Amino acid sequence: MKNYPLIRYALLVGTFFFLLLPSNSALAAGKLNYYCSAQEDWCQLMARGFEKETGVKVNMTRKSSGETFAQLKAEARNPKGDIWWGGTGDPHLQAAEEGLTVAYRSSMASELNDWALSQAMSADYKTVGIYSGALGFGYNKDLLKKNNLPAPACWKDLTKSIYKGHVQMANPNSSGTAYTTLATIVQIFGEKDGFNFMKALHKNINNYTKSGSAPIKAAARGENTIGIVFLHDAVKQAVKGFPIVAVAPCEGTGYEIGSMSIIKGSRNMKEAKMFYDYALKANVQSKALEVNSFQVPSNKNAKTSSKAPKLSSIKLIEYDFQKYGSNAERKRLLKKWDADVGSLPR
Ligand code: F6P
Repeated sequence: MKNYPLIRYALLVGTFFFLLLPSNSALAAGKLNYYCSAQEDWCQLMARGFEKETGVKVNMTRKSSGETFAQLKAEARNPKGDIWWGGTGDPHLQAAEEGLTVAYRSSMASELNDWALSQAMSADYKTVGIYSGALGFGYNKDLLKKNNLPAPACWKDLTKSIYKGHVQMANPNSSGTAYTTLATIVQIFGEKDGFNFMKALHKNINNYTKSGSAPIKAAARGENTIGIVFLHDAVKQAVKGFPIVAVAPCEGTGYEIGSMSIIKGSRNMKEAKMFYDYALKANVQSKALEVNSFQVPSNKNAKTSSKAPKLSSIKLIEYDFQKYGSNAERKRLLKKWDADVGSLPR
């Protein structure tokens, strides 16, 4: 009987310290270093959604596709990232070839479209397709009118001197969109004529941006007339109410298989695999519509929008992902673009 106050005191102190400790689930939940190459709002949505569902703390870094590839390469001996989500497939394929990412076969594979799986198979499962989208351009119809310019309909139109200073695209070294543009032009016109096209286009370019979607955001703000971008990025601005018109070029166009890869040497492998499975779920991919991301989802059961560009009505080329996602070809084309195009005066 005499010991009761002592016991009660001990229990109270014990409870107090127990409450100060993080909960078991938080301790078990862990963390994830997440590299994202899609647009900021979608990257954030994925990070916060995953945190909410799993309790895993996500540290996010957003950079364009080519920049993230360069970061993976620079960090190869001391990897800091766990998962790379989003961005065009070419640099993901190059990362797989260079041994910067590791193979993972998700149990979600049976729900994926064939194009997403063939991306995985071509890289021995070191990457996987998460969305797809066609390349093209978009213009600000008010600015076009103000400058008495006709509406461009074809790639070739963009090289006409009337558009001097009115066209913007990203730099193909940093941006997957711009690299897809370079590879698309070379596949449509052949290497010699393709590079002549890029040189003629160069004369009309007012700025090479770092990020692929920046040119159409600038057009939406009225700071640029025409932006070479993925069509879904142009539609995103139009849906927000800006005077942007998306154009699928008359000669035909290339497309991307936006991808996801687990980084070799990941220190949070369990969490990286959890995120990978999470990102392939139908309900998670459907959330893209909440931030007006109109790419075609890789999960067959994910929702699409009637506002999304209709890939079936666009003249798509047989984009050679194997070739243009290979280390040798991507390096060669970028070097040639720097020497023959990027370094020329405008
Ligand atoms: O999220 C928009 C988007 O266009 C993706 O579809 C694409 O994978 C990515 O951005 C490419 O961005 P960047 O050209 O900056 O590498």
